Amino acid sequence: MTHSCVSYEWVLLIFFHGILLMSMSSCLKSKTVPALANETDRLALLDFKNRITQDPLQIMSSWNDSVHFCNWLGVTCGPSSKRVMALNLTAKKLSGSIPPSIGNLTYLTGIYLRNNSFYDEIPQEVGRLQRLQLLNLSQNSFGGKLPTNLSYCTQLRVLDVAYNNLVGQIPGHLSSLSKLVNLSLGVNNLIGSIPAWIGNFSSLNVLGLHRNNFQGSIPSELGRLSRLRVLRLSVNNLSGTIPPQIYNISSIYFFSVTYNQLHGSLPSDVGFTLPNLQIFYGSANNFTGPIPKSFSNASQLRSLDLAQNGLIGTVPQNLANLQGLRWLNLGENSLGKGKDGDLSFLNFLANCTSLEYLSLGANNFGGVLPSSIANLSTQLSILVMGENKIHGNIPTGIENLVNLNLLGLENNYLGGTLPHVLGKLQELNILDLRNNIFFGPIPSTLGNLTTLTELYMDGNRFEGRIPPSLGNCQNLLLLNLSHNNLSGTIPKQVMGLSSLSIYLDLSYNFFIGALPFEVGNLVHLTKLDLSKNKILGKIPTTLGTCISLEYLYLGGNSFEGVIPQSLKNLRGLEDIDLSHNKLYGHIPEFLSKLLALKHLNISYNDFEGEVPSEGIFANASAISIFGNEKLCGGVQELNLSSCSSKHPKLNRRLLALRIIIPVTCITIFVLLLLYFFPMCSTVKKLREGALTTSSFEDWQLPISYAELLESTNGFSKNNLIGSGSFGSVYRGVLSRNGAIVAIKVLNLQQQEASTSFINECNALRSIRHRNLLKIFSACSSIDHKGNDFKSLIFEFMCNGSLDQWLHPKNDEQPQRNKLSFIQRLNIAIDVAYALEYLHQHCQTPIVHCDIKPSNILLDEDMVAHVGDFGLVRFLFEASNNPSKTQTLSVGLKGSIGYIPPAWPDWMELK
Ligand SMILES: *[C@@H]1O[C@H](CO)[C@@H](O)[C@H](O)[C@H]1NC(C)=O
Ligand SMILES: *[C@@H]1O[C@H](CO)[C@@H](O)[C@H](O)[C@H]1NC(C)=O
Ligand SMILES: *[C@@H]1O[C@H](CO)[C@@H](O)[C@H](O)[C@H]1NC(C)=O
Ligand SMILES: *[C@@H]1O[C@H](CO)[C@@H](O)[C@H](O)[C@H]1NC(C)=O
Ligand SMILES: *[C@@H]1O[C@H](CO)[C@@H](O)[C@H](O)[C@H]1NC(C)=O
Ligand SMILES: *[C@@H]1O[C@H](CO)[C@@H](O)[C@H](O)[C@H]1NC(C)=O
Ligand SMILES: *[C@@H]1O[C@H](CO)[C@@H](O)[C@H](O)[C@H]1NC(C)=O
Ligand SMILES: *[C@@H]1O[C@H](CO)[C@@H](O)[C@H](O)[C@H]1NC(C)=O
Repeated sequence: MTHSCVSYEWVLLIFFHGILLMSMSSCLKSKTVPALANETDRLALLDFKNRITQDPLQIMSSWNDSVHFCNWLGVTCGPSSKRVMALNLTAKKLSGSIPPSIGNLTYLTGIYLRNNSFYDEIPQEVGRLQRLQLLNLSQNSFGGKLPTNLSYCTQLRVLDVAYNNLVGQIPGHLSSLSKLVNLSLGVNNLIGSIPAWIGNFSSLNVLGLHRNNFQGSIPSELGRLSRLRVLRLSVNNLSGTIPPQIYNISSIYFFSVTYNQLHGSLPSDVGFTLPNLQIFYGSANNFTGPIPKSFSNASQLRSLDLAQNGLIGTVPQNLANLQGLRWLNLGENSLGKGKDGDLSFLNFLANCTSLEYLSLGANNFGGVLPSSIANLSTQLSILVMGENKIHGNIPTGIENLVNLNLLGLENNYLGGTLPHVLGKLQELNILDLRNNIFFGPIPSTLGNLTTLTELYMDGNRFEGRIPPSLGNCQNLLLLNLSHNNLSGTIPKQVMGLSSLSIYLDLSYNFFIGALPFEVGNLVHLTKLDLSKNKILGKIPTTLGTCISLEYLYLGGNSFEGVIPQSLKNLRGLEDIDLSHNKLYGHIPEFLSKLLALKHLNISYNDFEGEVPSEGIFANASAISIFGNEKLCGGVQELNLSSCSSKHPKLNRRLLALRIIIPVTCITIFVLLLLYFFPMCSTVKKLREGALTTSSFEDWQLPISYAELLESTNGFSKNNLIGSGSFGSVYRGVLSRNGAIVAIKVLNLQQQEASTSFINECNALRSIRHRNLLKIFSACSSIDHKGNDFKSLIFEFMCNGSLDQWLHPKNDEQPQRNKLSFIQRLNIAIDVAYALEYLHQHCQTPIVHCDIKPSNILLDEDMVAHVGDFGLVRFLFEASNNPSKTQTLSVGLKGSIGYIPPAWPDWMELK
């Protein structure tokens, strides 16, 4: 009994002991193990915090130990596990890199770092996050390759790394991610072909591969993606035809293949097989054949862009069934037969009451411009029909299109007189009527178009006077009335229109009378062409205040008198033509001192005396002086008789004053210089034979994204010459004229970049000076593939920035010598000129706000040019002048007569 009792007690004891032990151990387990785990997460998060290099919003200050990490900003924990499940730092302006310890946060299901400035590679350790379902790293600066270990994250549903700088191919390992719903790799530098195994991702909704360097053909396996809604392949080097299977994915609503080298015709039943289409972008490929009539069956179609292909035939009338159509771009194809009826579809398009954009430019459309264009949607903002064979005249009903921004009818056979109602198109920015057969007067109502920035009426038969009311168009940057039959005097209101900055061309008309002295108001004007008219009298001295002038063409008139001395202020002049006038007197000395001058034509006048031998005159092929019988001297190649030295008698004292003193001074100065700086004998050479800065005509066509893409080899790294907070700068060679340019591509993910762009455009559109970096063009506003693309095209400065000279990096210009004292002095003077111009001579004084060596660029002659106007401030004479503020806040408006295949903002995918 005792024995059994004892043993019973023991059993109990052991039993209870066991329970105690078990409970203790379970207690230990429930305490220590999670404690370790939460410590892992805390350490990993702190490591993440340590890698943050910029945090202007002070997000990371909340990541401190006064609160549990589950309450740190952007951190979400599992309710019971207290482990980190999601990290959401979307759009927090953070910079930094992702540490490998991210792989310790093994409970993570979602990482959202979209729209920050994270850089460096995505660490392989993300492969440890086997519960990860959503990884959004888009809109950052991640580089390197896609980590192959991502293949272990087999639960991934969203992989979005768009808008980064990733390189390399899509790793084959990623074929394991079979649960993907969204695969967005767009806007990187990925290469290789599109893997066929993507076709196995049976849940895929969104496939974004646009704006990379993918090549080869589109794999037909993609046709198996039966749930695909968005297919974005634009801006790659894809070739071949589109596999027919893809057109069978009926769920697609967004289809974009712009800017590839795809060919073949569009299937005739495309609208039936893709009935959900909202957006179809096929522009800038090599598609041929007709536009399928069946598009009209895709009743939700909003946007159809087939520009820049080889399409033929007619435009289907039944497109008019598409009530929601906003964007129809068929430009640059071979549509139409050049005959009547080609445009009859326009009679029906009135049904599309949301139409905002209609481009039919550069096709083969013939026939009469139907008056039914007056019935088009009042929403229409862009109507482009230039470069066709269209007859007839502009119907008065055009006044209904009250929202028109751009009307391009250039290079057609349109005629008749212009309707006065054009003056009612109050939103008009660009009116392009050039090269038609319009006649009659220029309607004075055009003066009501106060928002007009560019007016092209050249190459017609307009007659009568220029209406003085045109002087009311105070936003006009460019006015071309050349090659018409205009006559009378040039109204001073127009001659003094100070907003004109790009050019004023009145050449080849019958203008008479004197040149109004108001010409001096054109302080921003770069090019003035008045040649081949009947203008008489003296060249007004006020012309000397047009300090931005680079091209001055007054040839073929009846100007008389001498060349005014005031023109010596026009230091930026590159090309002067005064030929075939009645000018006389000596050739002014200052012409030989205009260092930018490349051509000078003063032939067929009545000049006399000695031709200078310096400056432009040293190069006989750069000047033309024929037909001036009384000239002598000059360089030998001119073959002029030498001037018999009949110096007027000078008394000795005058001789001493005039010659000896300066000569002595100069000699002493030169000796001093030679003593201190043996290098300075290599005086700045003249700019002859330098890079041919292309004439303005080359820039009349706006630059398209495609052209920039081509010019920079697809924005290749090799052409990258710099990058900064607002974007990157590439070197490009334009195929249109072989010009070497610098292309500044703005990083639009930076909010400030947009502001910077607007500032820069505002600043640059109105100012020109030889010591300011010259802007050739801008590629702006809309870009075809879903993203704003903004860039500025500048003169290329082959000697880089001053900064590079002053503080050379190890591998940078090792061959370059240090700047000599004279060079430094010249640079300082150049910069001073530029600043003086900005502060004193601009209509509104401009403060650059960012003068530093890296913004001072040097051309091949080491002439300094101030650049980077991203931070400029306009100083207003009267800060309470709202109208002026408004004028300046207007961004760059549209482009000229041609709109590239484009993608308006409202289509951006979320
Ligand atoms: C980890 O968990 C233990 C117990 O729940 C807690 O006392 C400790 O404060 C936690 N540590 C952190 C860093 O959250
Ligand atoms: C991540 O975990 C590894 C091992 O699990 C450990 O060695 C490392 O210190 C951890 N990193 C951080 C930052 O906690
Ligand atoms: C720690 O974070 C909390 C908010 O989570 C904040 O109120 C506090 O100021 C922070 N402490 C420090 C020292 O930054
Ligand atoms: C991430 O946080 C932002 C606010 O910062 C919020 O708008 C967004 O919905 C969050 N995303 C997720 C997936 O929780
Ligand atoms: C990115 O984030 C900033 C704020 O940090 C915001 O202003 C901007 O609109 C965001 N951009 C996009 C494209 O989401
Ligand atoms: C487009 O096709 C034409 C002839 O059909 C060919 O000359 C041209 O090179 C092609 N362009 C591209 C980009 O493939
Ligand atoms: C205009 O739209 C209606 C639908 O609202 C359609 O029935 C009609 O056929 C369309 N007209 C033309 C000319 O396409
Ligand atoms: C337009 O201009 C004409 C003449 O220049 C003028 O009579 C008219 O009042 C102006 N305004 C409108 C809205 O047409």
